[in-house]
Amino acid sequence: MLILAFESSCDETAVAVVRDGRTVLSDAILSQVDVHALYGGVVPEIASRKHVEAIAALSDRALAEAGVTREDIDAVAVTCGPGLIGALLVAVNFAKSAALALGKPLIPVHHLRGHIAANYLAFPALEPPFLALCISGGNSMIVDVAGYTDMTILGATRDDAAGECFDKIARVLGMPYPGGKAMDDLSRGGDPNKYPLPRAKLEHELDMSFSGLKTAAVNLVHNAQQKGEELDLPGLAASVTAAVSDELVPRTMEAARRTGRKILVAAGGVAANRTIRGDLERACGASGIKLYLPPLSLCGDNGAMIGSQAYYEYLAGTRGDSSLNAFANLEI
Ligand code: KG4
Repeated sequence: MLILAFESSCDETAVAVVRDGRTVLSDAILSQVDVHALYGGVVPEIASRKHVEAIAALSDRALAEAGVTREDIDAVAVTCGPGLIGALLVAVNFAKSAALALGKPLIPVHHLRGHIAANYLAFPALEPPFLALCISGGNSMIVDVAGYTDMTILGATRDDAAGECFDKIARVLGMPYPGGKAMDDLSRGGDPNKYPLPRAKLEHELDMSFSGLKTAAVNLVHNAQQKGEELDLPGLAASVTAAVSDELVPRTMEAARRTGRKILVAAGGVAANRTIRGDLERACGASGIKLYLPPLSLCGDNGAMIGSQAYYEYLAGTRGDSSLNAFANLEI
């Protein structure tokens, strides 16, 4: 089954053709990151406009690169949430029109389910049940994936996402948006104990929090700037990264202990972080848990992951129609 999949939830326009949920025939992505870097973060209205400009040509490119025609497509899939509402609406409306014009089923897909499904593309043998640690610019959560379309959130951030925390701290250090990768690079060789930063303790033990850490690091930078003190930047990046990892990894291991799951997958842009990947590897190794870390190319937003999850949604009977809407917030 060939699925034409659309994604426009944030600042990447992406269109892919995926066969049977597992084989990527094409994965065309147009990032707007350079435009938003001028403003230090995503400007929603600009994101929507850029999606409108790109989506038609990008879908032609995805079909051409896959070596298929519109008539070969069996279903059309689209991210319907969560994300920036104006941005989401672009692909939702384009996909609705495409499905109507082609006379094919329309499959709405949850963005984070897509991030988890990126692992099906990278690891052909991977099947639920497993645990997923979803860490991106907008979300951070531990999800129990009992089946391809049967998911329960075990813990989630109470405030900012892990990626947001990296990006905002990077911004006060003068790094361009999105600063997660730059923080990762800067942290190499830095002392993770250089600056004491807070770790959150929450009543619900599997929930996490990043806003206290973000504020503490931002204040630390501002204080140093006001006093004219020089900061050990690799040490600061390493200390921030260690604090983020401490927020994520022990809770994920605790979730594995409670559920008895023996497989863990990581998903989302922050899953590209070297320290977090290393910490997950060590913790899983010590607990006898098989860990799947997606390749960096599949960590960020892409259309292929939406095409993958859409196949399993299709098998489960999920369908959209011309009344399909986009949702800024959407339960997994
Ligand atoms: O999944 P994604 O591409 O978009 C969302 O759906 O949010 O994630 C983007 C986030 C940004 O916050 C970015 O700074 C962060 O992932 N990120 C990283 C790294 N690469 C990307 N954060 C830490 N370390 C990295 N290597």
